[in-house]
Amino acid sequence: MTNSDGESNKNSANEKSVDDICARSLVEGLADNFSSPTDPHSPPIVLSSVWSCDDTGQAAALLNGGLDGYVYQRDGHPNAVQFAAACKALHEAEEVAVTSSGMSAMALAMLSQLKQGDHMLVSDQLYGGSTRLLTGEAQRLGITHTLVDMCNLDAVREAVTDSTGLVVVETVSNPLVRVVDIPALADISHDQGALLLVDNTFATPALCKPLTLGADLVLESVSKLMNGHSDVMLGMLAGRTGQWERVPTALSVWGLASSPLQCWLANRGLSTMHLRIRQCCDNAMAAAKFLCQQSQVKDVQYPGLEDHLDYEISQSVLTNGFGHVVTFQLEGGRDAVDQFIGAGSIPFCPSLGDVMTTMSHPCSTSHRSLTEEQLDSLGLSQGTIRLSIGTESTEYVINCIEAALNA
Ligand SMILES: Cc1ncc(COP(=O)(O)O)c(C=O)c1O
Repeated sequence: MTNSDGESNKNSANEKSVDDICARSLVEGLADNFSSPTDPHSPPIVLSSVWSCDDTGQAAALLNGGLDGYVYQRDGHPNAVQFAAACKALHEAEEVAVTSSGMSAMALAMLSQLKQGDHMLVSDQLYGGSTRLLTGEAQRLGITHTLVDMCNLDAVREAVTDSTGLVVVETVSNPLVRVVDIPALADISHDQGALLLVDNTFATPALCKPLTLGADLVLESVSKLMNGHSDVMLGMLAGRTGQWERVPTALSVWGLASSPLQCWLANRGLSTMHLRIRQCCDNAMAAAKFLCQQSQVKDVQYPGLEDHLDYEISQSVLTNGFGHVVTFQLEGGRDAVDQFIGAGSIPFCPSLGDVMTTMSHPCSTSHRSLTEEQLDSLGLSQGTIRLSIGTESTEYVINCIEAALNA
């Protein structure tokens, strides 16, 4: 290196200008200032997108997986690893990938397990975004599908073929809260050499662990109940080592990875999931029973009601409660729904799983791309409301529903 007079300056690396101090300020003293004989009680958020390596050998070992550690955030970071460890324990899984959203967890399952020419058996009652991915986008990549009612096991047996690679269901369906027989679906899938992928978002691992019931892969939209505060977009895919070979590469090169801040927030949300879910389930049962008695309401759907179509199977698939979603129809159709929303006692948020009770209207949100005929065949109407019951006192939840019904 030379100075401005063109003379050699051997100490220049130690003599810093304002430019040099600013450019290096964030890493200066990193080891000294952040290490301590005591551990922080709350985990740090490690936002770094890249880690500095000691030498080429270390970089190669880290990147090839021979050495545990981090090089580039898209391939792995401490906050994702910490959140994955909790998910692994909750789902009794061998492997977990944390993804940027529930949709990217679904995309990861499809992209890592299937190839052009493969076939999927897809539940006809999935979340609308999942249906669009698995039918529309997948079709463009040469992956075919058949839509089937997963509660009708004979129909599933008939629809599964030799080329079926993946059978995709939700533990509790959206929005009619149908509950599927996971062990039976696993047997049917495995008989044909297919994998069973379960979207467990409405149940969470607090109510169901699909891998322990025979499923091969399970995904969660962590954005919902697992985080619980409507301030995170995150997903996770869990499974066993046998199905994992292509997952890390697909996660990295399709760019589906999570961000450290989202993982940190989700970890904090997860720390109260068990408490929130208990209260949500108790409230949801009370809300469902209350709705059954209201003259303006028909067709109340909640798996904990004895007259629900899947009440029996719910007892074995769901443990510790029947979930937080209650769906019903208002007699007055869409006008009545607008009045219900207009009361302002229950926020109209087209999501679910918040600490507070919220509502959605499937026909204008998650299921808006379906024709009236398709909606009708699924049992949905313009009067259908989906409640995501929260953690308020039971009395307050009932009062809010009553106020909205009386609007
Ligand atoms: C059952 C279910 N699965 C997956 C998703 C997609 O999750 P995300 O919004 O985190 O991408 C949703 C979103 O509403 C959902 O309800």
